[in-house]
Amino acid sequence: MKMILTSMIIAALTTAPLAQGFSECNLTQPRSHKCFGILGQSLIFYLPTSLNTKTRLEKNTDVILNLKNYSLLNINEEYKSRSTFFTNGTFMLSSATKNDSGEYKMEKHASNGVLLHKIIVELDILAPVSKPAISQTCLSPEQKTVSCFSEGDEVELTLSLHDNALIQTRPKKTDKHNVLNITISLHGQLMGNLTCIVQNNVSREQTVVRLRSCTDTISHLSVLNVVVVTSISILLLVLALLLGMKCFNKTTNRITVNEVDAEDDVVYSDVRVKQQTNKTTTTSHQNAK
Ligand SMILES: *[C@@H]1O[C@H](CO)[C@@H](O)[C@H](O)[C@H]1NC(C)=O
Ligand SMILES: *[C@@H]1O[C@H](CO)[C@@H](O)[C@H](O)[C@H]1NC(C)=O
Ligand SMILES: *[C@@H]1O[C@H](CO)[C@@H](O)[C@H](O)[C@H]1NC(C)=O
Ligand SMILES: *[C@@H]1O[C@H](CO)[C@@H](O)[C@H](O)[C@H]1NC(C)=O
Ligand SMILES: *[C@@H]1O[C@H](CO)[C@@H](O)[C@H](O)[C@H]1NC(C)=O
Ligand SMILES: *[C@@H]1O[C@H](CO)[C@@H](O)[C@H](O)[C@H]1NC(C)=O
Ligand SMILES: *[C@@H]1O[C@H](CO)[C@@H](O)[C@H](O)[C@H]1NC(C)=O
Repeated sequence: MKMILTSMIIAALTTAPLAQGFSECNLTQPRSHKCFGILGQSLIFYLPTSLNTKTRLEKNTDVILNLKNYSLLNINEEYKSRSTFFTNGTFMLSSATKNDSGEYKMEKHASNGVLLHKIIVELDILAPVSKPAISQTCLSPEQKTVSCFSEGDEVELTLSLHDNALIQTRPKKTDKHNVLNITISLHGQLMGNLTCIVQNNVSREQTVVRLRSCTDTISHLSVLNVVVVTSISILLLVLALLLGMKCFNKTTNRITVNEVDAEDDVVYSDVRVKQQTNKTTTTSHQNAK
């Protein structure tokens, strides 16, 4: 079993706050469309109201509310306690849940009952993306792997080096833990600023780290001592705490030893990058395809 020294680099852990904590869905727009809401945050619907009209909002087969003139005629009990209605047509749900995702229908009728307008809106409630965590692992002086990890719904991830995209995923329906962990393989001597951007339709976060040359790590690896292991364990522990990991592995001391090809939810992809340094003209992984 190969022992690999994993080093983690944490970029400034300033968790960029998401907007002002609400999202909007405008049902006064003339056409059917799609809306996105942020899980756990307020969601505001704009409904058309006017004199001598009735407005009805339905979700699937449930009637959520009926408006008449500018006021609320009636509201579904399930929504009453968690919503606020203003006479200008603003209807606010206090905390969006996954269950709020679905198809909403808005109908506007004249007071004589004639249908004036009808639209359908598909609402998708998404968990925002977390700030990406980047880790680097040296396998040899010629090869290292770099991983970018983020949580959230339908995450789209881009890893780039000096503004050149190395890999870009399409929005993924992430697994039930909403975890995306992309690993790429790079030449061990490659250096520079590596950026990982993660986004979905309600949020965007990014992390930049400096890629390090693998040579140093390898020479230290042969004289690996307790001090190095301990300090890295502490660093990893700090990272784990910051990431809010609940179940940190049974063998905390050996966390520096990783088997790279063991993870379940890891997508591997080999990326070749042209070496710009003049000392190594031999780019390593050929014939990968
Ligand atoms: C909703 O959409 C309508 C039509 O496009 C627009 O006039 C109105 O300003 C929008 N309302 C809000 C609150 O954005
Ligand atoms: C709306 O309010 C106006 C004035 O109060 C009233 O004359 C009218 O009948 C109301 N229309 C409906 C549909 O209730
Ligand atoms: C509607 O009224 C509420 C409460 O007065 C206000 O906060 C909101 O900005 C208004 N919305 C629009 C679109 O005018
Ligand atoms: C989900 O929403 C529907 C209305 O669309 C409601 O009938 C149902 O009780 C809700 N379920 C939960 C678990 O909140
Ligand atoms: C990498 O980023 C650092 C700080 O963000 C910057 O000073 C440096 O110039 C960047 N290096 C390259 C090669 O872009
Ligand atoms: C946002 O949603 C649209 C579909 O409405 C999709 O095509 C697009 O890729 C999504 N964007 C992101 C960043 O997920
Ligand atoms: C992501 O996958 C890599 C490669 O398996 C692993 O080293 C790293 O610890 C994973 N990151 C997280 C946060 O799980």
